[in-house]
Amino acid sequence: MPHRDTVRRCSCRLRRIAEERIRVVLKDWPEYAGARLEGFKPKSIGQSNAHVALCENPRGSYFFTGQFSRGKTHLMIAQYRNLALAGDRCILRSARDLMEELRKAEAPADSNREAFISPVLQMVNLAPAGHLFIDDIEKAGARSEFRAEMIFDLLDTIKRRQLGITVTSNLPLRDLAPKLGDAATARLHRLCREIML
Ligand SMILES: Nc1ncnc2c1ncn2[C@@H]1O[C@H](COP(=O)(O)OP(=O)(O)OP(=O)(O)O)[C@@H](O)[C@H]1O
Ligand SMILES: [Mg+2]
Repeated sequence: MPHRDTVRRCSCRLRRIAEERIRVVLKDWPEYAGARLEGFKPKSIGQSNAHVALCENPRGSYFFTGQFSRGKTHLMIAQYRNLALAGDRCILRSARDLMEELRKAEAPADSNREAFISPVLQMVNLAPAGHLFIDDIEKAGARSEFRAEMIFDLLDTIKRRQLGITVTSNLPLRDLAPKLGDAATARLHRLCREIML
């Protein structure tokens, strides 16, 4: 049985690793440095509903929708922080960066370029557990059949492998199909609890 000091040192190390991951994520999202579930003061009924849901089920899958500046990204990053600090594997991407990452991963390697390993695909396809966070999913734009298929495959694998996913969107789920495709939108319906902020 490990000594109590060893256990404490281990959990301190894991916490430092999680804090470092959060710090790296927040470099791209500096305005959300203060986003927390603990002590969060809702400014609307929508925020209050989302906050209650997140506190009751912090590992739940959510679709936060609503107009601009309602606090969707703020609450998503607060959930990310909670899961990361609990030691869960999680990845946060803007929809644009996510699509770029998936496109790069699909591009065949050639003599000038090594194959690109996508951290998102690694987590979704291989990790025993994980939670993907996607900001502004309506901007993923399934303009081509290829993009629509990439998004569908990702969401389908998340559902099949029972991973977690939280998404923000200016459009409600019922209006997302023209942007994301019918199949991907149907998967999000099945995966997430939609909360209007
Ligand atoms: N309850 C709150 N307490 C403190 N700050 C908040 C709260 N809700 C939102 N904010 C802040 O308000 C600003 C707008 O919130 P946020 O960016 O999350 O909105 P959004 O719904 O994602 O908007 P958009 O649709 O433009 O992406 C952010 O700076 C965020 O940190
Ligand atoms: Mg936002």
